[in-house]
Amino acid sequence: MRLFHILRKELLVLALLLSVSHGFAKCVIVTSPGEPALGNGDVLFKLLTSQTKCPANVFALHTLLTAKGYDIKKSLVSNRGFHSRSDSFSLFEWVIGSGPAGVSQPGDFFLGHFTASDEQTLIADQNTDQESLMIELELKDPSKNGAYNFYELRGTGEGSQWFYRGDSFDIYADLKLLHRNAPDEEIFGSRLRCSGCHLSGGPILKELAAPHNDWWTKLRPIDLTGWTFEKALGEMLSLNADDASKRLPSAVSDAEELAQLVTASSNQLIHSPQINAKRTTSLTLAERLRPLFCPMELNLESSSRPVDDGGDIDIPSGFFVDPRLATASVSMPRQAYLDALTQLGSQFPESNPVRPDGDHAWVTPVKSHYDQEAVTELVQQGLISNHFVRAVLAVDFTNPVFSNARCQLLRLVPSETADWQSQFRLALAKSSSPSGAQLAAGLSQPGDQSQAKAKAFSEACKARYLKADEAKALVTLLFQRRAEAFASDISKNELGQILEPSFRVIFPKIEQVPNLARPLSLDPDSCAVVGGE
Ligand code: HEC
Repeated sequence: MRLFHILRKELLVLALLLSVSHGFAKCVIVTSPGEPALGNGDVLFKLLTSQTKCPANVFALHTLLTAKGYDIKKSLVSNRGFHSRSDSFSLFEWVIGSGPAGVSQPGDFFLGHFTASDEQTLIADQNTDQESLMIELELKDPSKNGAYNFYELRGTGEGSQWFYRGDSFDIYADLKLLHRNAPDEEIFGSRLRCSGCHLSGGPILKELAAPHNDWWTKLRPIDLTGWTFEKALGEMLSLNADDASKRLPSAVSDAEELAQLVTASSNQLIHSPQINAKRTTSLTLAERLRPLFCPMELNLESSSRPVDDGGDIDIPSGFFVDPRLATASVSMPRQAYLDALTQLGSQFPESNPVRPDGDHAWVTPVKSHYDQEAVTELVQQGLISNHFVRAVLAVDFTNPVFSNARCQLLRLVPSETADWQSQFRLALAKSSSPSGAQLAAGLSQPGDQSQAKAKAFSEACKARYLKADEAKALVTLLFQRRAEAFASDISKNELGQILEPSFRVIFPKIEQVPNLARPLSLDPDSCAVVGGE
């Protein structure tokens, strides 16, 4: 590792010397091994490489973009929780407009940067300490059929350096063995750290669905009243220094805008015929089918109302069942929910005054938008039928996201593509697992009962959890589902994991850590919480 660092530094110096020795100073973007990045077709690449000097931080980048005719819009998230008084916020921005480097449609060009503080002054964290992360960027590259390129600006100790880290195809390559690795194989490749969380190969947003817990929305702006702002950051947010209503920096957009862009960009990647053509030749059948069986990305949903607002807790349907099988409209009396939190000793970390929960109740992992849409694409391509999809989802259907029973079946998908469905059925029938036998039977039956069963289950859930004495068991299962997200293979990349445990505070904590070796589950008939002994 050390040698690699030294080598990288020398290559970097070499690249810089090279640009100077050609007789003109030029902004050089380098790759992770320290060589000059060449030939990308995105707006950032074209813009930066045409400059004599690289923009040294986010302020200089903004100035350059605006001078060239581009507009920057931004969203804001409180990293340590909506009610936290911490100085850690992320600004996720998108660049639109047209200029000399080309057109940037909404969804083509994103960047992110972070805040810190100097006593009571909130500042943009643009410190240039060695390796410090100053900006992250993600841009669609028209010369790669709309795949995304991933960049960073990092501190070097003396200044800063732009890096090109790789593209969507590098991420797909890093994920080759995810959920499919042999015990002695690494789960993730290590081409770029972005693969740890941008598993979709492009833009992501965990809290994609409203109410976007922890994010700035018009309905529920983040409280910034305790802060004064560094001048440049205040200007970036269009804060009026004399304005008492600092809560409303007018440059911040509702998180719903970002959510719509991320959804649209993600859909474009998933449904792009060119990208799929390229992926189909490089992906195995099991890799293509993977989002149906196993989680490949993660979204969080929550009750629609803030906990403090009163009213019953509406539990996201995706907590109970995959939307392809049924919709569950389950509510829990608010007091029963709060009593269950108290009994479990729930506390939101770093909250002051102490709170039992985050802003919205029932923040839960759900099957991601990416996975859902990727399955739609497979059906559209004709690789699988809706009948096939429902038969797979019917396995362990009361555990819609992190079901090991369902995910394990992916390993029985044959590598041959000719006549694969009958080979798969054979392998399932021969397997010793009950879920293998269930899927084999489900695939052989012409009709299927999966939606009817899931609907009856949803009705049972609805009736059961109106009763206060059932609340604690279900809330305990919620804490288990969160723990499963941290324990899933998608969270095992050493270079970064989707819930960003050291950076974000998302969930409350309880005294007794859920025991994943003896998990709780939902009974498919009664919706009672069972198991765990
Ligand atoms: C540890 C997890 C993690 C890693 C690693 C990571 N990101 Fe992200 N990134 C996120 C999350 C999560 C979001 C969306 C905000 C949210 O859901 O909190 C995001 C958002 C972004 C955005 C805003 C657009 C979007 O996708 O919503 C950019 C740009 C971005 N990341 C760039 C990068 C680049 C470039 C890399 C690699 C050099 C990278 N990220 C690595 C977690 C990560």
